[in-house]
Amino acid sequence: MHKRQVFKAIALVVIALTATQSIADGATFKIGLILPMTGQQASTGRQIEAAAKLYMAQNGDTVAGKKIQLIIKDDTTIPDVTKRLAQELVVNDKVDVLAGFGITPSALATAPIATQSKTPMVVMAAATSSITQASPYIVRTSFTLAQAAVAMGDWAPKNGLKKVVTLVSDYGPGIDAEKYFIERLQLNGGQVAESLRVPMRNPDFAPFLQKVRDLKPDALFVFVPSGAGAAVMKQFLERGMDKAGIKLIGTGDVTDDDQLNDMGDGALGVVTSHHYSAAHPSAANKKFVEAFQKANKGMRPNFMAVGGYDGMRVIYEALKASKGQGGGDALLAAMKGQIFESPRGPMFIDSQTRDVVHNIYLRKVQRQDGQLHNVEFDVIKDVKDPGKTK
Ligand code: DHB
Repeated sequence: MHKRQVFKAIALVVIALTATQSIADGATFKIGLILPMTGQQASTGRQIEAAAKLYMAQNGDTVAGKKIQLIIKDDTTIPDVTKRLAQELVVNDKVDVLAGFGITPSALATAPIATQSKTPMVVMAAATSSITQASPYIVRTSFTLAQAAVAMGDWAPKNGLKKVVTLVSDYGPGIDAEKYFIERLQLNGGQVAESLRVPMRNPDFAPFLQKVRDLKPDALFVFVPSGAGAAVMKQFLERGMDKAGIKLIGTGDVTDDDQLNDMGDGALGVVTSHHYSAAHPSAANKKFVEAFQKANKGMRPNFMAVGGYDGMRVIYEALKASKGQGGGDALLAAMKGQIFESPRGPMFIDSQTRDVVHNIYLRKVQRQDGQLHNVEFDVIKDVKDPGKTK
């Protein structure tokens, strides 16, 4: 074996051994929350950290006789760093659960560590379908792009948007969004004029948008990760694409509640499909939004926050159900099949796929109480991840 392989083998053995020890480890229950607190996806980290802390403030920090310790680490939006931090959290801190994961490459890089150490890994943000298949210890509380994109692929052509250009971030979730949107669009008699992919890191949308303008489609379907939507909206409007009759549509990542209210009136009327809106009209959501804003200087929770909040719920309830006994496997078993009312609406964790099943809503940007909101006008109930049924 090469030196590198030997090191890798030793590291895996160490991870496996320490995981077994951690079962017997005292009265603390440790959650290693790895998030992008800096770098391109910092808004995701900020939202999830706030949500996890809110959940703990509302539900206490003692569960099944164990004191919950949240250990937050900043992976700076770099997957190699996520992986190293996960390894340290498992080996040195002996965490009971790994959680967070702001982008798909970070979740995929960490999956082997969850498997080797038998540590449940709760994915609160990343949304490529294949993630849950990367380790049997992964449970997802975010969403999948396939879930959201299918709904838009049904809605657009039925509402006069037949000729569409797609523009996605060139990595896992963007490729899923493109694939599932186009499949449904074509099934419903629509056509794709062109499929454009922009780099995930530091994208410049200008040359792509110019091309879209020349193609004159009925609509432009967009997926960009959380935090990049405002830049797309700004350049779309600056180029007068709305005035040229091109409708902006997409998954709800583009009208992210973290940024929407600052996008200006140009965002009015944009239709997207997603699993969460801060304007979701349920009592549970109103309570969540109010508490979140109160605890965070008025910051509006977005879909990342709700993934973090629900992820904490799944962890707390799994700890309660397994009474703090049995380690990673018992926790994982108690995460599977959880069913509850989330601020997003009804939600459950499919025991077979360990993925989230929830409603997908069609929403239109409107002014409500003086602020821009994604106002829901239709719902597709109990949507499983289409990325797993074939
Ligand atoms: C992913 C990241 C996002 O910010 C988002 O909105 C959707 C998906 C991801 O990397 O999986």
